[in-house]
This record gives sequence, structure tokens and C-alpha cells, in this order.
Amino acid sequence: MRRNIVHIGAGELTYAIREIVEQGDRLEALGVEMAWENIGDPVQKGERIPDWIKDIVADLVRDDSSYAYCPTRGVPATREFLAARVNARGGARIGPDDILFFNGLGDAVSKALGFLRREARIIGPSPAYSTHSSAEGAHAGDHPLTYTLDPDKGWQPDLDELRQNVRYNPAIAGILLINPDNPTGVVYSRDTLEGVVAIAREFDLFVMCDEVYINITYNGAPAVHLSDVIGDVCGLSLKGISKEIPWPGSRCGWVEFYNREVDPIFARFAKSLVDAKMLEVCSTTLPQRAIPLIMGDARYAPHLATRAAEFGRRAVEACAILSGVRGITVNEPQGAFYLTVLFDRGAVTNSMSLPIPDRRVQRVVDEFTQKRAEPDFRFVYYLMGATGIVVVPLSSFCCERHGFRITLLECDDERRRWTFETLARVIRDYQASRANT
Ligand SMILES: Cc1ncc(COP(=O)(O)O)c(C=O)c1O
Repeated sequence: MRRNIVHIGAGELTYAIREIVEQGDRLEALGVEMAWENIGDPVQKGERIPDWIKDIVADLVRDDSSYAYCPTRGVPATREFLAARVNARGGARIGPDDILFFNGLGDAVSKALGFLRREARIIGPSPAYSTHSSAEGAHAGDHPLTYTLDPDKGWQPDLDELRQNVRYNPAIAGILLINPDNPTGVVYSRDTLEGVVAIAREFDLFVMCDEVYINITYNGAPAVHLSDVIGDVCGLSLKGISKEIPWPGSRCGWVEFYNREVDPIFARFAKSLVDAKMLEVCSTTLPQRAIPLIMGDARYAPHLATRAAEFGRRAVEACAILSGVRGITVNEPQGAFYLTVLFDRGAVTNSMSLPIPDRRVQRVVDEFTQKRAEPDFRFVYYLMGATGIVVVPLSSFCCERHGFRITLLECDDERRRWTFETLARVIRDYQASRANT
């Protein structure tokens, strides 16, 4: 090429959650029975969509206007409905024009970070859902800036560290939170959220909060929205329907801007996202039309409550199975539908292995481990080869710690118990084999 055409941030674009599927597919082709626990898609894992929701969508499918473009910001009646819900909670007040629809939150994240001025950085959690950290790194052409979620404090953020990072790095313009969090399942208390907002106020930053799991909290965990605590600070919340209806194939999510008018720079940034969406015309129409009909239905709140209670039950069950296993630390998730298993320091090494009787499978696993030698990648590849269980290495979540993320999505009780019991057995056996050598 006469010119280098590769974007400065191209190296930051990685998404192990899906990359690992290709590797799993190769093992499946060799006859390994796979348990896909890598992707956060409840429907793929067998969750049934209630008939009353399907009826609403079916009626919309029969209506010609569902096939049309919609206004750039999104369907006006839906934005009014969503703004009214924010206002009814009594925190930040917004109007329909403070809401902008996207084709899923993945789209919202890449636009929100992609249209930030290059020098302006967003500090985000570590570990973090990699769409955020990769998009931030790609936007800046540098590694993502992070603050620590502390496993010894139930994965709560270390606010002193966050404050110090912000204080000494003037490039930081915003703080990212994911609440409830992916991959850890932590849910932030009101105090934590107020602490983050206070840092933003002190240093004149904005807060960006991914709340795609906000209606999936359980076992007493609070669901405090950013809009409840944002006060007079500029903020944006990312919300969607992929996880809570659940309807990930709808590719539908939205951003709520809080206190846009407080700061002309933030207002201009918000406008740039609307302008960028205008170049694309609009986002998906049909799911937007479905939102007020589904969320406004009296059956929606019980639907959410039933789902949250079920994930809460699975979280308790999984932690009970994994408790007492040497070499790992597990914090019981309080929200979303993931569980992170953290390897204690030195518990898993970059020469670890698990017994794989089939030589063809072993050869493929060898090939994978030659490419990625980190202990948790190696463990994940061996686990796939030895058991068929597919999980995601923790070090792929913008994190220097080692471990893995597994979902709580398997609907078949027996199969889910088998998965966690197999994991516990494999780790126990591995630790025992190390003790004997
Ligand atoms: C924290 C978080 N944000 C955003 C998304 C993407 O959501 P969407 O399907 O709306 O693109 C995910 C998907 O797993 C997620 O875990």
C-alpha cells in the first residue's frame, strides 16, 4: 500500500467471547459435545419468550408502518414512553429528545466512543466487557485506561484509585460504569454510584453507565439507576432490550442523556451522535415500536421479577458447587447472568494441562495454546478439549488477572448442574495433581 491504511486503534479490536466460537467449532467437528457458556444470549441457551410478547411482535409484523424508516432519534412515542419512566423515578428529568436509539448497544458504544475527540479518554473498569474497553482503546489508539474492580471487596470499584487516576491524568473526560456488571455480576450500591458521580463533579467529567442489565438484579441487590444519582452532572445511560426481554436479535438499544444543557461541550458531543445517526438515517423500527407495548403491559414487571429470581437461584447454586474448591475465588453475582471464577495467584500456570484422551483433540488444543500461552487462555482451551465446556478467559476482559467468565444461562437444570460440577471436579483434580508432583 502506498499509504498505511490501518486505523491507529486496529490492534485494540478483539472480542474473545466470539473468537472462541471458531475454536469450539473445530473441536465440535471432532466429535466433542460442547456446552457453550461463552455468549450472553439467553435465547440461544434455550430461554422461551412468553407468548404474550410474541403476540405483540406478531401484530406489529402485520402492520406496514413497522417496515418504514423511523425518525433519526427513534420512534417518538417510544422515546416519550421511556422519558416518562425516567421522570417517574424522580431523579434526572429528561424529554424525548434526550433519547437516541441505536442498532443495539454495541452500535451505541462504538458511536459514543468513536465520536469522542481522540485526546479525550474514558476511564473504565477492569475487568470490563470488552466491547467498551476495545472501543475506547481503538478510539484513542492506545491501551484502555482502567480502574480496578477489587475481587477482595466483592468486585466493587476502588474509588480512591479511581480518584487518583482521574486527578493525575488530565486527558480523562469521562468515567464508564457497567451496572450490573459484565463479567463480574457485581451490582453497585447507591453509595458507590454517588461516589463516582462526586468524582465526576469534582473534576468536571461526565459519567457513562451501561445499564443493559439494570432490570436483572437479585437476592436483595439494589437497582439504582444513574439517573437516580446523577444530580447536576452530565451523564449518559446505555439501555437496551437484548438481555431483559430478552431480544438480542432485535439490535435495539438507546442512550439517555442527562443534563445535556449544563455544559455546551457535552451538548455538542450529544448532537454529534445524533448527526452521526442521521447519516445512517435511523435505527431498527419494529423493536422500537414494540417497547412501549411490551414494557407498558401489566405482565412485564412479573416477567422481569421471575427471570431475576431464577438467575438469583442459579447464582446461589453455582457458588455452592464451586465453594471450597482450592485455587479459585468466586464472588456470588448479584445481577446480570455471569459468574467470574478468579484463579488465585499461581494456581494455574502457563504449562498447565488437563487429561485429553483423544489424540486428535489434543493436537488441536496444542495448536490453540501455541497461539495464546496465558494461563487462563490455556486453561480455557484445555477445558474445552477435556469437557466441551466453553468459557471466556478473564484476561480477555481488559484485565491482568487470570480466571474465566461463565454464564448462568443454561435452562436445563441437570445440564447446568453438570457444567458447574464438572468445572469444580476439573479444578479440584488439577490442583490435586499439582500437589502430587
Ligand atoms: C455490558 C453490555 N453492554 C452491551 C452489550 C451489547 O448489547 P446489545 O445486544 O444491545 O448490543 C452487552 C452484551 O453482552 C453487554 O454485556
